[in-house]
Amino acid sequence: MPQPNRVEHQLTDKGYVPVYTTAVVEQPWSSYTATDHEVWATLFERQQQLLIGRASDEFLRQQRLMGMSPDHIPKFDDLNPVLRKATGWELIGVEGLLPELTFFEHLANRRFPVTWWIRKPEQLDYLSEPDLFHDLFGHVPLLMNPVFADYMAAYGRGGVKAHAIGPEALVNLTRLYWYTVEFGLIKQDDGLRIYGSGIVSSKGESIHCLDSAAPNRIGFDLERIMRTRYRIDTFQKTYFVIDSYEQLMEATRPDFTPIYAKLAQLDSFPAGSVQPGDAVFNRGTGEGWLKDGDV
Ligand code: PHE
Ligand code: FE
Repeated sequence: MPQPNRVEHQLTDKGYVPVYTTAVVEQPWSSYTATDHEVWATLFERQQQLLIGRASDEFLRQQRLMGMSPDHIPKFDDLNPVLRKATGWELIGVEGLLPELTFFEHLANRRFPVTWWIRKPEQLDYLSEPDLFHDLFGHVPLLMNPVFADYMAAYGRGGVKAHAIGPEALVNLTRLYWYTVEFGLIKQDDGLRIYGSGIVSSKGESIHCLDSAAPNRIGFDLERIMRTRYRIDTFQKTYFVIDSYEQLMEATRPDFTPIYAKLAQLDSFPAGSVQPGDAVFNRGTGEGWLKDGDV
């Protein structure tokens, strides 16, 4: 059975640096313990309740159609025929975070890497790295939506390209992923809703991102997002709001090469700043913000 040793450390001239495992693994389904299945059930039911009226209609609809249930941890092999039929995507099991280029290549080929192991009961509210609950509950429902599915594959191809251009291009592209796929909001006729997986898999942030006066909520703008730093250790200071998944697809269709070149000459924006030209839904009060730590 694969062990959850996702990160090893290797001594280099920069000291110990983490090395991520790259292995694609069979989901070791029969090795999940009763506790693992209980953690899944608890998180699934808690978030499903909380997300009514908070997650986007499309996220909730696709989640229903996929047929995940709280009864037990889903088998990738049961979900895959449903997903393949809807959009041609499939899930592959992995130990954890992958090297960037490997990750992009999987996405470009419509393979979504899902961490096979699930957090422990004492980690229900916070985990600093993706686990099965985040990957499966958070990311997979929207892969059933044809437009979003195309966006994710295009992102993978864009990632392969950005990787060849250089580290600065990758920083720009990673911010786009962060502020859309992971922490995106969408405007529905009846108000703002969540579609970002980093939010839907977190109880605290599912409430904070919509109800709190602290964060900025700002209309989607590609270059603005590509210049904006973000938080990895606290709730986001800023959320960006799309009008539709089609908007996301259209805005990211152009070749990014000239955009990367232009942005290389410009400063980045602090995570919590409001910029001239922003379409402001909410100007954050900044309550509770830490001064340092934008990445
Ligand atoms: N259009 C982008 C490029 O040329 C690729 C991309 C598509 C990136 C969709 C992100 C999302 O690099
Ligand atoms: Fe994620």
